[in-house]
Amino acid sequence: MSATRTPAKHFSALAVGAPDPYRQLPVKLERMIHFVPPHNEKIRNRVRELIPQVDVVLGNLEDAIPADAKTAARRGFIEMAKANDFGETGLWTRINALNSPWALDDILEIVPAAGAKLDVIMLPKVEGPWDIHYLDQLLAQLEAKHAISKPILIHAILETAEGVKNVEAIAAASPRMHGMSLGPADLAASRGMKTTRVGGGHPAYGILADPSPDGAPRAFFQQDMWHYTLARMVDACLSYGIKPFYGPFGDFADGAACEAQFRNAFLHGCVGAWSLHPSQIDIAKRVFSLDPKEVAFAKRIVEAMPDGTGAAMIDGKMQDDATWKQAKVLLDLAKLVASRDPERKALYGL
Ligand code: GLV
Ligand code: MG
Repeated sequence: MSATRTPAKHFSALAVGAPDPYRQLPVKLERMIHFVPPHNEKIRNRVRELIPQVDVVLGNLEDAIPADAKTAARRGFIEMAKANDFGETGLWTRINALNSPWALDDILEIVPAAGAKLDVIMLPKVEGPWDIHYLDQLLAQLEAKHAISKPILIHAILETAEGVKNVEAIAAASPRMHGMSLGPADLAASRGMKTTRVGGGHPAYGILADPSPDGAPRAFFQQDMWHYTLARMVDACLSYGIKPFYGPFGDFADGAACEAQFRNAFLHGCVGAWSLHPSQIDIAKRVFSLDPKEVAFAKRIVEAMPDGTGAAMIDGKMQDDATWKQAKVLLDLAKLVASRDPERKALYGL
């Protein structure tokens, strides 16, 4: 016997008067989810300038907000939601974990006050589909009660060993699921990994080349510790039609390493990453927008195979139906970027 809702009920609202869930996610460019601490009045006052520079503004209520500032952060988020017009820029909040003393009030205060403007709630430390079901039901009740006409989506942070074990069930838990972010800091702690970093590599995690007969020094190649988790997350997300993201990169001074981590995620299928510092906004834009050379090559593939079938040779490289689909992924993203970014629109020749 299956423990999931029937296909017909899957897409019906969970409360009378709540909006129906989306059948398909709204098409949105979300290259960076930019974190702001909403209890800080100076930063709150700068949100207006920030909005045109980023794809998503997220008011963070969880980790990095001190326990004695939790209420101020929640109130500050409501204030900044009310005070600004976000236009095409997404408005998200990261609420506190469901087992914390703050999560219920985060939800009960924010949804009535700012629910109509809120696109996505990021839920930390998701362990399994039960966490999503709880928030899903509660949001439907609140949407109905407060006549909110657009469903608020849920974005899960994948940051516990149990969450990774259940990643597919989390992705499948509700049509309210927007996507997932990899949370390397909490995940490292939960798994007992031996690192104190927030994402990125570790100098000791790697492969030593075989000894050479002449006794030359052996090369050591650093490896990506996050590869396994990221790959599982991307497969879970894409198979359920939701969006995968890389999360935070904590070494703000090492832009090159941040860029490398973001690019691995991008090449692997992720659509964006978190920016925790203003310098990471441009890194995310650069990485998650596509190189104009890639766009030009994708255009040549599509032009060589107008109906997407058959085979063609371009610069000595074989193209067929599958590379046409790869090219289509790139061009769809390029068009989405071009719709928000006039500079790149020109570079892409779109
Ligand atoms: C993010 O929340 C992380 O724990 O890495
Ligand atoms: Mg975390």
